[in-house]
Amino acid sequence: MIQHLYTFMKIEELGKRIPEYGPTYPISGYIDAFHESLAHCKLNGKNIDLRIDGWLLREDALKLYEMAYFCQEAILELGTYHGLSTYIMAQAAQNSPYEKSITSVDLSLDALAVARKNLRGLNVNLICAKAEEIIKDLETQRNRFALAFVDLSYSYEPVYHVCKEIDAVILSGGFILLHDWNDVRNGKDPDYGVYHAARDGLKQGRWEFNGCYGCTALYRRI
Ligand SMILES: C[S@@+](CC[C@H](N)C(=O)[O-])C[C@H]1O[C@@H](n2cnc3c(N)ncnc32)[C@H](O)[C@@H]1O
Repeated sequence: MIQHLYTFMKIEELGKRIPEYGPTYPISGYIDAFHESLAHCKLNGKNIDLRIDGWLLREDALKLYEMAYFCQEAILELGTYHGLSTYIMAQAAQNSPYEKSITSVDLSLDALAVARKNLRGLNVNLICAKAEEIIKDLETQRNRFALAFVDLSYSYEPVYHVCKEIDAVILSGGFILLHDWNDVRNGKDPDYGVYHAARDGLKQGRWEFNGCYGCTALYRRI
C-alpha cells in the first residue's frame, strides 16, 4: 500500500492546496478506460460532470474509483444524494475482478428516488436511513465492509458520530474516504466541521491517515 503522508494538512492549510490523485495500490497509470475517462471528463465549475448532479472534484472521483475497484469486500456509502459517487463505485465494482456489494444510505427518500433512476441497471442496494442509526443496525446484523465513503454533510455532529462508531463495521485493514475534509471552511464557518469530526471521532490508535486527494481524506483501519 502506498501512503501519501505529506498530504496531511494542519487546520490553517485546509483548502489552500488541492492534492492531486495518487494511487494507494501499486498501479502505474490508469486502471482502465473508465478510470482514465474520469481524468478527462467535462467539469461543471470545479466538479466533474457525468450528467448526475453532485459535487466531486476530479481528484475525489479518481480516488473513489480506485478504492472501489481494488476493494475485495463489501462497500458502504453514507450519503447517496443523486448517486454520482455511487455510480462511480458501481462502475468500479462492475469492472473489477473482485466481486463485492455496494450499500448506499441516505435519509432523503426524494434523493434516493432520483438515485434509483440514475443507477438503473447497476447493482446497488439503496437504503433510506439516518447514517448515525444504520451503523448500529449493520453491526447487529453482522454486516462488515472493507471501504466506506462518508459524504453526508459538512457539519461536525453527524460526521463525528459516524467517525466514532464506524470502526464497528469496517474490517481491519479497511478504508474510509471522508469527503469535504480538505475545505477551507472547516473550523472557520460554524456549519463546517468534517476535519474536526475526523480528528475527534476516529479512535486514536485504530485509524491511520493515508492521504488526501482533492478534498477527500483516506484513513485506514489498523
Ligand atoms: C453531499 S450529498 C451526497 C453526495 C453524493 N455522495 C454524490 O457524490 O453526489 C449528502 C447527502 O447526505 C444525505 N444526508 C445528510 N445527513 C444525513 C444523515 N445523517 N444520514 C443519512 N443521510 C444524510 C443528504 O440527504 C444528501 O443527499
